[in-house]
Amino acid sequence: MSNLTNKIRILPEEVINRIAAGEVVERPASVLKELMENSLDEGSNKIVVQVRDGGRGGVMVSDDGFGMSEDDALLCFERHSTSKILGYSDLEQIRTLGFRGEALSSIAAVSMVEMKTGLKNNKEGSFVRVEGGIIKEVKKIAWEGGTTVNVRNIFYNTPGRRKFLKGKNTEFRHILKTFKQISLANCDKNFTIYSEDALVWQLEKSTLLKRMVTFFGENIVDMIIEMDEKHDEIELEGYIGKPQLVGSWYGEQYLFLNNRFIKNKGVSRAVFSGYGSSISAGDYPLFVIFLKLDPLRFDVNVHPAKLEVRFKDERGIYNFIYESVRKRLSDDKSSPTTFFFDNGAKIFQKRKYSIPEPYEQNDVKVQFEMDYDREVMSEKAVEKKEKLEYFEREKIWQMHNKYIFSQIKSGIIIIDQHIAHERILFERILKRTKEKKYGESQHLIFPVTVNLSLEDRIVFDDIFPFLTMIGFQIKVFSENTIILEGVPNDLRKGGEEEIIKNIIDSYKKEDKEDFGIYEKIASSYACRAAIMAGDRLTVEEMINLIDELFATDFPYFCPHGRPTIINIPISEIDKRFLR
Ligand SMILES: Nc1ncnc2c1ncn2[C@@H]1O[C@H](COP(=O)(O)OP(=O)(O)OP(=O)(O)O)[C@@H](O)[C@H]1O
Ligand SMILES: [Mg+2]
Repeated sequence: MSNLTNKIRILPEEVINRIAAGEVVERPASVLKELMENSLDEGSNKIVVQVRDGGRGGVMVSDDGFGMSEDDALLCFERHSTSKILGYSDLEQIRTLGFRGEALSSIAAVSMVEMKTGLKNNKEGSFVRVEGGIIKEVKKIAWEGGTTVNVRNIFYNTPGRRKFLKGKNTEFRHILKTFKQISLANCDKNFTIYSEDALVWQLEKSTLLKRMVTFFGENIVDMIIEMDEKHDEIELEGYIGKPQLVGSWYGEQYLFLNNRFIKNKGVSRAVFSGYGSSISAGDYPLFVIFLKLDPLRFDVNVHPAKLEVRFKDERGIYNFIYESVRKRLSDDKSSPTTFFFDNGAKIFQKRKYSIPEPYEQNDVKVQFEMDYDREVMSEKAVEKKEKLEYFEREKIWQMHNKYIFSQIKSGIIIIDQHIAHERILFERILKRTKEKKYGESQHLIFPVTVNLSLEDRIVFDDIFPFLTMIGFQIKVFSENTIILEGVPNDLRKGGEEEIIKNIIDSYKKEDKEDFGIYEKIASSYACRAAIMAGDRLTVEEMINLIDELFATDFPYFCPHGRPTIINIPISEIDKRFLR
């Protein structure tokens, strides 16, 4: 962007009609994203963020960018006012983070905004106050250049949406996430964030590696692999975690396209597939990768928050990323591969790759499995009663230490032992909470010290009372350290060390669902405490599990709606044998 005096124009109608419409402001973190992106588009080197009440009270961003003239300071709150594109053809090759001229007007429409801005090298600037989209005050002020936008009372005039804001801690986590995404993509800039008046992070300009260390800890340094690949004018840079980088990395997968944070299933899948069998299903490797591509080869104008993009050659991108990750991991001599043996033991061996699944086939396979499940579930012939009467206790066996098979009158049932146990624990805990009964706990002979990141600590504070109710005994030792002294009686043996982190992780994953806090923690706990695939069960244990499952209110589904039982009627088997 230049710093000519007036730069903003209203977009012509035909361009407006081409812009992906939708909700720009979903929550305080969306405001932060838009404001920080605006600052970056204006050549800022130093960006300071301040949030109040986790963002619910307000978000303020100050920058040292080019600033605006008074005319622009008024025009920027109009819809479709932008300095970043002029006509239709610009939409095809966007090089700035913003381009729609929608963010400030959308923010101003649902909040109270005060902006101070001025052009560089001027001693004077403008102050503009807008409430619910209406300009209430404009005046000249003494100002050194740069822009400060202070957004307060988000959704104050749309109570319906205000109601949907989550608690302070949840909103604050979203704020931190956004801040992390943007500052990871701009390591050559200084960023600071305050919550109320307390400093949260101060990041001096540095390298990507140093910034990653700030966010993810010193111990990642020897555990990540640098990427620097190029093919057909596509570049891939950044770092990927080695498979043996232990810890919980859920949510710490960063993908940037030309420095814009994006979400893209194809790319994520390409990275995950690149790890092959060296990670198990459900593992999330840490990665921070930057894809560089000519803007003509993708479209960012497809999602209202610009979080998604459409690649023109999706398959080419997939293959490039998949190959790059695979190659870098296999070049890295220190990366072992984990193999699982039938007895559940884990050993490490030199990496060996399974044959990659071709891109298109993946989808087909998943689709097929889903269809099949649906078909089977729709039969729902296992009436609860029938199970109790006809489930044949002597005909029960475990397959692959994972599934329980049993004969029933009408055919066979297959039970997923983990999911079934999840349902049992989930209901048990919720029942306890309702009855305000504390779960029994067992003292650990060796208390476990757990270090928590800032975000994890915020979640922990939310769920602490409930963890105590389930049967955990926890002491808060310091700002980022807690000590686990006791665990619930029904916790699976051997899972004590990671359990708290795992619950925090699953709790974060539950974010989008309509669960209340109790259901969320109950389901996180159940998922982590339940017997796992790989656990060998005695006949007695299997029978108990089935009995307990059928004593629950909803025996057929886990708390997330996955089936616990598949019923294959004898007629189906007959049909398959063409009888
Ligand atoms: N921090 C800032 N410093 C200088 N100019 C700014 C700043 N923020 C916004 N502007 C000006 O205001 C205009 C409107 O901003 P707004 O965020 O609404 O739209 P945009 O960034 O052009 O597009 P988008 O809606 O995609 O973000 C920008 O094009 C820019 O010229
Ligand atoms: Mg913008």
